[in-house]
Order: sequence, then structure tokens, then C-alpha cells
Amino acid sequence: MRRLLTALSFLVLGTSAHAGVWESNCASCHNGAVAPTKEKLLKKYPTKKAFMDAVRRTVQQGKMPRGLGYGMAAKELFGGAVSRPIQKVKAGNDYRKFFTPLPALPPIPADNPLTPEKVKLGKMLYYDPRLSRSKVISCNTCHNLALGGDDNVKTSLGHQWKTGGRNAPTTLNSGFLRVQFWDGRAPTLEAQAAGPLQAHVEMNSTPELVVRRLKSIPEYVRLFEKAFPGEKDPVNFKNVTKAIAAFERTLNTPNSPFQRYLLGDDNALTPIQKRGMKLFVKYGCIACHNGPVLSDGKFHKFKWNNDTGRYKVTKNPADKYMFRTPQLLNVGVTAPYFHDGSVNSLEEAVRIMAKKELGKTLSKSEVHAIAEFLRSMTGEVPLEARVLPQLPGNNPE
Ligand code: HEC
Ligand code: HEC
Ligand code: HEC
Repeated sequence: MRRLLTALSFLVLGTSAHAGVWESNCASCHNGAVAPTKEKLLKKYPTKKAFMDAVRRTVQQGKMPRGLGYGMAAKELFGGAVSRPIQKVKAGNDYRKFFTPLPALPPIPADNPLTPEKVKLGKMLYYDPRLSRSKVISCNTCHNLALGGDDNVKTSLGHQWKTGGRNAPTTLNSGFLRVQFWDGRAPTLEAQAAGPLQAHVEMNSTPELVVRRLKSIPEYVRLFEKAFPGEKDPVNFKNVTKAIAAFERTLNTPNSPFQRYLLGDDNALTPIQKRGMKLFVKYGCIACHNGPVLSDGKFHKFKWNNDTGRYKVTKNPADKYMFRTPQLLNVGVTAPYFHDGSVNSLEEAVRIMAKKELGKTLSKSEVHAIAEFLRSMTGEVPLEARVLPQLPGNNPE
């Protein structure tokens, strides 16, 4: 885990030169909920030395990952270093300002800090089919981390091969989404994880069944004790969802050509991808697909079939056919598209979006350029997440 964090942070360091180190490497946690805001910190530690002492103390306490570029952040905050692009970009031609590089980690909730022990446990639970009633379906069945974090089928098959009628979105970078599910019915990854475990079309389990199975496996009991130190009865359903959510927050995919471009490498995108990027901005895709994962986290109307989307959750007529904007990172490897997985080609999805969301008919070459731009967003799934974990054996009795 430590290695993973260091590797991730190494990849984002370059961001400093463009968006500012604080903005790209620190702000996602220092938002006032997980950790103090920049303003609060500067008030508490008015000198660079006091600030760096506090950083060292906090890192030593294990509350903050190592190697996030603290020195550079301090220089930026105290030394007044001006942030400027690594490579000069021709004036009037810089589309970077419309996009946000992917930070090393998404915001971490205060009540579920990220620890290596928890992430390790969460990974095992994510891969363990014994959490499902049938003992054959795991999160990874539908969100396969070797296949872009989804299952590449139209609508997922779950318990007894029933289907819920919706396409499985990727779990990659899901920690950056403001709400979870196509209709936003779960506010956090913790709340989200409780859903599939119990959904009868997915894993068809119950909290009691999950906890009973886990408690019967001595190795799991030990791992829960380590991940949730000091708790009297750590093997409980809430902690199952917390550990899985913690693991999911490490499933981020930096180092795509698009991210490298945002960090200053002008040659990371092909000419056609750059054209697609301009069209993406010019036609207004960016109005909804923005922020670090190209989702505004808001709901927009997409009347497509008889799935009424957000309305099913709120029963508010204004929410009929409203769906949360999905992220676009890795969209090149997560076909088929839309909430019902009814569209196989990315080009077709782009054409439909332009028509339905923007009232524009794009030419074939424009559609192709935008699709190629979206394909530049395919990043690297962290190796540690892809390597299958060794799952503890059942109790011999
Ligand atoms: C993964 C989340 C995370 C990231 C990323 C992060 N921090 Fe922190 N930071 C924390 C937490 C949690 C604390 C402890 C807050 C507390 O104890 O209340 C903390 C504490 C600190 C403190 C000490 C605060 C105090 O009151 O003593 C400083 C200074 C600090 N961070 C600076 C930074 C800088 C600079 C960066 C970016 C280079 C950064 N942090 C990135 C989570 C993070
Ligand atoms: C049978 C297939 C299946 C299984 C098993 C499954 N999921 Fe899903 N998952 C889906 C589908 C389908 C959706 C979309 C449902 C919807 O939005 O109504 C989804 C949505 C999600 C989302 C929301 C992502 C977004 O963009 O909104 C996350 C996160 C997620 N699942 C994580 C998990 C975890 C963690 C597990 C294991 C505890 C799990 N899933 C098990 C099929 C599955
Ligand atoms: C008004 C907001 C809005 C605008 C503008 C918009 N989108 Fe979307 N986009 C959405 C929503 C909402 C969905 C989810 C539709 C659904 O329910 O399947 C979506 C879905 C997509 C998908 C499918 C993703 C997947 O994983 O299934 C792609 C690709 C996409 N948009 C690209 C674009 C492009 C390219 C443009 C510009 C031509 C664009 N969008 C404009 C809101 C928008």
C-alpha cells in the first residue's frame, strides 16, 4: 500500500508545474472535512518551518501518505514560486485550462481513514465470492479490474444469472464521483457497497450471512482486528463496506496519455486527439463532463427507454429520466455504453450524446476525433489491485 501511494504520488508530482502542487496533491483531502483547509493551516503554521514540522509529524503518525511533494507545496505556499506550465504552450491554444488532472487520491472521509491494513482487507473482500449467497459471485465478477473495472456485457448477470437491467459502471476512479449509481441513489462508496451485497439480482446476500461467513474464517477475524484496531466486535457489516470502499479509493488510473498531456507533455496526444479535445470543449460536452473524472456529479435528462432514472429514487416528477453524468476516464475500455448498455461503439455513444444533450449533428470525422480523444483517457490500473489476492481458506470443521 505504501508503495502504491508513493508510486501514485510520484506520477502526479508533475502536476505541480501546471495546476499547483497544493491544488493537485493536497486539496482533495484538505477540504475541511478530512483535513484542515489551506487557510486554516496557514493560520496555524505561519512559517514554512512550522508547516514542514507539522507535515513530518503527521506523516510519521501515519495520517498522511509519504512523498506527496510536501516540500514543493510549502515552497508554493510560502516561497511564492509561480506555477507555470512545464512546456510553453502556444498562446490561445491551451485547452488544459478546461480540464483538471487526476489527483493521487480522491477525498478520504474522516470516518474511514485510508490505512494499508484496511486496503489489504478490502481487496480480499472485493475478490471473495463467499460474500455472495451462491459463493460464486464477487464484486470482481462484474467489476473486473483486469477488464477496465466492469464486465463488458450489456446488463450484468448476478445471482442465478438474473439481471438488474442496468450496465455495470467501472469501479476505477469511483472515489471521485460525488454520488454513486446511474441514479445517484448512494451518496458514498460505503453506502454503495451495501447495495450489491444484498441486491437479489447481484450477490443476494444479507448482512447476517456475510458476517457469519467471515467470522467462521479465522484469518479474516485477524485481518478485521488489524484493520479496525481497538474495536470490540470488528467483524461487522459496516466495516465490510468500509474496507471495500477504502480499497476502491486506491483504484485510480493516472498516467493515461490525457493525464500526461495535462501534466505538460504536449506530445502525449495525437493530432486527431487534440482536435477531439477542442471539439469536446467547443460543442459543450465539458458543461457536464468536467472535473477530475469528467463528471459534474449532477443529474441530466436522458430519455432513452422506459427507465425513469432518478425519479425511481425521489418520486419527484422533475427527476423523470434524469441520470447522473458518468465519468469518462477509461471509457475506451468500458463498452457497452449508457445505463442499459445498449450502445456498443464509442463513436455511436458520442454521436447520440451530441444529438440528445446538445442538439448538434456532428460530422463523421468530428465524432471520430472526439472518440479518439476519449480513448486517450485510458490509464493504468494499479498493479497491486490487479494481482489476485490469496484468500484465506475456510475453517476446516
Ligand atoms: C490522503 C489525504 C491527505 C493528503 C493527500 C494530504 N493530507 Fe495533509 N493531512 C491529512 C490528514 C488526515 C491530516 C491530519 C488532520 C488532523 O490530525 O486533524 C493531515 C495533516 C496535515 C498537516 C498538519 C495539520 C495540523 O493541524 O497539524 C499539514 C501541514 C498537512 N497535512 C499538509 C499537507 C500537504 C502540504 C499536502 C500535499 C502535499 C497534504 N497535506 C496532503 C490528509 C492528507
Ligand atoms: C451482478 C453484477 C454486480 C456485482 C456482483 C456487483 N456490482 Fe457493482 N454495479 C453493478 C451494476 C449493474 C451497477 C449499476 C447499477 C445502477 O446504477 O442501478 C453497479 C454499480 C456500482 C458502483 C457505482 C459506480 C458508479 O459509477 O456509479 C460501484 C462503486 C460498484 N457497483 C461497486 C461494487 C462493489 C464494491 C461490489 C461488491 C460488494 C459490486 N459492485 C458488486 C453490477 C454489479
Ligand atoms: C447535459 C449534460 C451532458 C452533456 C452536454 C453531455 N453529456 Fe455525455 N452523458 C451525460 C449523461 C447524464 C450520461 C448518462 C446517460 C445514460 O443514462 O446512459 C452521459 C453519457 C455519456 C457517455 C457514455 C458513458 C458510459 O460509460 O456509458 C459518453 C461516452 C458521453 N456521455 C460523452 C459525451 C460527449 C462526447 C458529449 C459532447 C458531444 C457529451 N457526452 C455531452 C450528460 C451529458
